[in-house]
Amino acid sequence: MDRFLFVLGSNWQLSLAELDNYLIHSKNKGKIIDYSASTAIVEFDKLHKNRHYINDLMEIQFTLGGCQKIAQIYDFIDLKTVKDGFPLQIAKFKKVEAARIKILTVIEKIISGKSFIFPKIYESMFFAVSIYPNLYDDEYYSDVLVKHFLPFLNKGIMEILIKKGSVKTLYYKYPEKNLKSGNLNPIFPHILIKYRLLNENRAEIIFGFTENGVYLARTFTVDDPNFKKKIDEERPCKEFKSSISPKLSIQMLNFLNVFDRREKLKILDPFVGNGTILLFALLQDFQIYGSDIDPSKVKNTIRNINWLIELLEEEIPLFIDKRILKSDVKDLSKHFGYSFFDGICTEPYLGPYFLEKPYFNQVKELFETKLEPQFNNFFREAYKILKNENRICFVAPIITTVDGNDVQLNIEKIANANNFKLVPIIDPERFISKVDPKLQRFKKSSRSLIDAKKGQILLRKVYIFEKRGK
Ligand SMILES: C[S@@+](CC[C@H](N)C(=O)[O-])C[C@H]1O[C@@H](n2cnc3c(N)ncnc32)[C@H](O)[C@@H]1O
Repeated sequence: MDRFLFVLGSNWQLSLAELDNYLIHSKNKGKIIDYSASTAIVEFDKLHKNRHYINDLMEIQFTLGGCQKIAQIYDFIDLKTVKDGFPLQIAKFKKVEAARIKILTVIEKIISGKSFIFPKIYESMFFAVSIYPNLYDDEYYSDVLVKHFLPFLNKGIMEILIKKGSVKTLYYKYPEKNLKSGNLNPIFPHILIKYRLLNENRAEIIFGFTENGVYLARTFTVDDPNFKKKIDEERPCKEFKSSISPKLSIQMLNFLNVFDRREKLKILDPFVGNGTILLFALLQDFQIYGSDIDPSKVKNTIRNINWLIELLEEEIPLFIDKRILKSDVKDLSKHFGYSFFDGICTEPYLGPYFLEKPYFNQVKELFETKLEPQFNNFFREAYKILKNENRICFVAPIITTVDGNDVQLNIEKIANANNFKLVPIIDPERFISKVDPKLQRFKKSSRSLIDAKKGQILLRKVYIFEKRGK
């Protein structure tokens, strides 16, 4: 089975949208054939036929902002068999036993051999089992999968490996208190790296659940969160209150839909701040340009970029000082040529940093007097300096108020008025139907997606716009 399991980032909706967009528009074409709130199952058109497809997977891993791991799938067990073997309450022991034997038989078939989980059995082996649930708040996950299925898999896989010739087999032990409470996160990327689980005699074996069943896979590539964290936290100038996350920056760049010859493409962030988006655009090889109304922000971004260039041991791009400059968005076309940019990716000024929920009228005034005129200026100027039919990825605010509902701007109207059309962030036709309302809702939310943590006052809504051709 040439299928791959992608472990999604914490914002699974945005991660799914990003991945699907990548599979449509990059050279590695493919389709998401099944998904959950933690994983996507991908079938590529051609990728698996390349001899060195692991290198391609590593490249994909590096390109995507919302992908924690990529694993190769070796088999699938339908949900009925798992639930027969691991019911919420055990009633019929015979049925349970038969289903459990069936599960172990499937695992035994794929555990070792040239194109299976372990190509070779070594004297000493180590493995970690990670179970990815359909939904994290699923009771079946905390009560059954963590408490019963996981120990069953650990013991079963260990016995199979010993039977096949390993002398010493160990497995990764999760903290006891998490196992007891059922509140368990599958192992994080940095643990995978620490335990060297990509080595041949070691493996992370993933059991990824969807509504249809469980996919059995082995991890081949993993995100390097430490590097992104280092860029985000150790750069000389930072301001966490107003900074966008590295993950979202990368995802937004991917929504611009430009995956080939990135080193030739010019990307602009006209509300550059401390340059988070540009730092990740530089890492992804783009030609970077930025501007900001505040000269101290321009200086900060230049300092950050020079710092990253040194860290990457790369050459300083020509005229970096001319590429990052002071400008109000209303004057962008005075500084940059017409139809100059291949993409614009930006998080504009979203209002003051609210420590407590503001009042509805306060937000309405902010929107009407400040943000609306500014966004209007932005789209008007963007129309001039962006190439025809190229894209903007834009973050708009939703603000939670004390006395009203969430307030948001009609950003689509502003964009339309300036000759941009909204591009739906997902195409619902490309995703299979789901029973669970949360998964189903994702399929319907096609126009834009929210990036926020629980309880945040300011929510970021991600939009894609395309410049209408003449
Ligand atoms: C939310 S911050 C961007 C933060 C940035 N994404 C980061 O990670 O550092 C918005 C930026 O817009 C700038 N700004 C506000 N009004 C502006 C205007 N009229 N023209 C250009 N920049 C403006 C502010 O100085 C601020 O740096």
